[in-house]
Formats: sequence, structure tokens, C-alpha cells
Amino acid sequence: MDLANKVRLIKDFPKPGINFRDITTLLQDGEAFQQAVNDILALCGDWEVDLIACPESRGFVLGAPMAYALGKGLVLLRKPGKLPGKTVRHEYNLEYGTDALEVHEGAILPGQRVLLVDDVLATGGTMFAAAELVKKSGGQVAGMVFLIELVGLEARQKLSEYPIVTLMQLE
Ligand code: PRP
Ligand code: MG
Repeated sequence: MDLANKVRLIKDFPKPGINFRDITTLLQDGEAFQQAVNDILALCGDWEVDLIACPESRGFVLGAPMAYALGKGLVLLRKPGKLPGKTVRHEYNLEYGTDALEVHEGAILPGQRVLLVDDVLATGGTMFAAAELVKKSGGQVAGMVFLIELVGLEARQKLSEYPIVTLMQLE
């Protein structure tokens, strides 16, 4: 099945000029969802990994079945103010303003190899912040895997120190 056909393109969302890649149409098709998870697992199958970590919220949708399939722990990288315990935080720039990701202290132990997963790689800002959290926690980034890479946004440059694999490359 060509999974790219299952991703819906919505023009001018959330603002004029942005082409939004909507994965809800892929997720609601059971066969496509299963294939997507299996295919991204196959892409990073030979990486040595202790934990899976994923950014809120669409990253959770892929990180959870991957962690389950691999029998590895899942670490949630959350938007500010959501985690109840003490957290490590990294702020990052958006086109307008800033956002941040947080992880619980002690969720990633020193030396642990962490596979980062998200649905879309656009500017790379989210994943850069995710990688900073892994490093601030003392862990190592084993690699990054994405369902969709939006090409031409220089994310590869920003994340050049990390292994990256992507299942689909879209304009
Ligand atoms: C989207 C997407 C990625 C990120 C990619 O998340 O799910 O996480 O943007 O963009 P970037 O490479 O430029 O950082 P968003 O922040 O919209 O939130 P959501 O996952 O909660 O929908
Ligand atoms: Mg996201």
C-alpha cells in the first residue's frame, strides 16, 4: 500500500501558505496504521536502543506502538506544565514566539540509548529540543525516525549530528 496516499493535504492550515499534512486519515485506516508502524520499525530495526521517546502529541501515536512492539520503555516528552514530577526542560523557537518540551527527571538514565520518534519532520525544531532533553538527562540519541519528512526546510542541517530515517519524503 502506498502510505503517502493515506496522508491528507490540507492547504492554508493553520494559516495561509502552509500545506498541512494530516495523518488522521492514515491512522483511521487500520491496515495503513499497522503498515506504517511496521515500516518505521523496519527502518531503524538494527539500531541498538534502550528506550523510545516521543514528543507530545502526534509523536505519542507512533512511539507507543513502537515501544510495545520492541518491548522497550516509552518516555513522554511533554509540552510545558503537563508532567507532575520534577522536569528537565528545553525551550525552542517557533516562527512566532517560543515553545518548550519537558521530560521527567530520571526518566532517561545516564548512558541510555534513546530512539526518538515523531510523525513529521518539518523545521526540525521539535526534534532538536527532544534531543537536547535526552542529552541534558545524560542519555544518548540512538537515532531519529519519522513517518513524514517535509523536504527543503533545512531540518537535516539542524539535526546533522544524528542518524535520521524517514518513511515518506513529501514536498
Ligand atoms: C508538529 C508535528 C511535529 C512538529 C514538526 O507538531 O507533529 O511534532 O510539528 O515540526 P518541526 O520539525 O518544525 O518542529 P505540533 O507542534 O504541531 O503539535 P502536535 O504534535 O501536538 O500536533
Ligand atoms: Mg508534534
